[in-house]
Amino acid sequence: MKLVHREVGVKRAETATVIRRDRQILQGKPPAAAQEIAPSASETLGTRLEKSTRMTGLEPATSGVTGRCSNQLSYIPSSQGRHIFLAPRFAIVKRCGSRVGPDNGNGGAGGAARTGGSGCGIAFYILLGIAHTMSARELILVTGGAGFIGSHLVEALVARGDRVRVVDSLATGRRENLAGVEGRFEWLEGDLADFDVCTRAAAGVSAVLHQAAIPSVPRSVEDPLLSHASGPTATLHMLEAARRAGARRFVYAASSSAYGDAVELPKREAMLPRPLSPYAAGKLAGEHYVHVYAKTMGLDGVSLRYFNVFGPRQDPSSPYSGVISRFLRVMSAGERPVIFGDGGQTRDFTYVANVVAANLAALDATAALAGAVYNVGVGTRVGLIDLVDALNRALGTRLDPQFQPARAGDVRDSLADLTAIKAALGYTPLVDFEQGLRATVAAAQASSA
Ligand code: UD1
Repeated sequence: MKLVHREVGVKRAETATVIRRDRQILQGKPPAAAQEIAPSASETLGTRLEKSTRMTGLEPATSGVTGRCSNQLSYIPSSQGRHIFLAPRFAIVKRCGSRVGPDNGNGGAGGAARTGGSGCGIAFYILLGIAHTMSARELILVTGGAGFIGSHLVEALVARGDRVRVVDSLATGRRENLAGVEGRFEWLEGDLADFDVCTRAAAGVSAVLHQAAIPSVPRSVEDPLLSHASGPTATLHMLEAARRAGARRFVYAASSSAYGDAVELPKREAMLPRPLSPYAAGKLAGEHYVHVYAKTMGLDGVSLRYFNVFGPRQDPSSPYSGVISRFLRVMSAGERPVIFGDGGQTRDFTYVANVVAANLAALDATAALAGAVYNVGVGTRVGLIDLVDALNRALGTRLDPQFQPARAGDVRDSLADLTAIKAALGYTPLVDFEQGLRATVAAAQASSA
């Protein structure tokens, strides 16, 4: 089993190790264990993987890659916005002929510069500036970061050492979703329909992962104005605030609902969208804004069309909640789930770790993404009756579904073609439906125990 954290990046882990060692050298200290540098921020990736395993029920990868990460990502910068200095070790040692370390007695950066005389001092500061620029951690804004998907993204970003800011209105998100990373991110409560909130949220950020939404087809049918305010209006506000702040990339949580009743399967990005609900129309409008900002307004971006995401922390309590969270809750209580329609509708149910992996790939892509649209799914589809069967197996129950009329705006079938995102971002699903369902059931059982 591979976890998204396996993708956390050996490169970043190596950088973290070098930064830690070099900072110690600059401070005139011998390289020490991570705990001595930052006790509060010294949790290893191994520890995080163990926690994640407990939380999700997933086993971390047992390959050498994870072993490397667990050793090397022992230094995780806090989210307090401090800068980390990377010493140009080889330049100093070779050009100044003087070691910077415990023996020189000069301590930090100024001491290192003095050690080598004025010429070396200038070279040192130039190199230090370059190195600083390269090593300063980007500030990443996660909108809707207290929500189901957003909180998983925040965890992944914090785990790999990014500085993170969260903005959330708490309309559907919950602060408890971030309990595992408390103190390691900046927090801003507010509604993105208010442009001032967006401006404050975007100040100083390098990139935005825009997850905030009221993600419900039926709720949008009941209240299209609310759906528009939290959808395209908020997205436009956030794009404009990010552009003004000089951000380099905008990653947008788009939706497979944009395909609507297009009959062809699997759904390819080039197909003509046929949205059936205000929610879907709003998500599609957001894609167009992302494209316009990338092509015309100088803010690179990408739209990731999520296919029916599920996993731990998905809120089951609303009638608008995703079907897996709803069925899991009622069936765990021994009640029969309600299927709207005949149960023959299918979905490409996508475990949340896959969505996190896609976002990180989009964030890290070196080439411009130019407002492109990519599907994020698994590439398999499951019918609702099969979903009930799978949950019966996982829970050890034998509950038959009840049937009610189909919901307005509901689509029949949904399945992602992943060719484009594989080619552009190297994305492949990490967790399949069955694995994800087991992990979700295990997490729900653990949290209710
Ligand atoms: C749609 C979008 C998805 C979006 C989500 C937000 C598509 C293909 N997908 O998902 O991109 O993120 O809205 O909510 O349009 N159902 C029941 N019983 C229940 C709950 C749901 O039978 O108690 C049925 C629904 O009628 C639907 C299926 O389960 O046919 C999935 O519903 P849901 O989980 O709400 O997501 P979608 O509406 O498919």
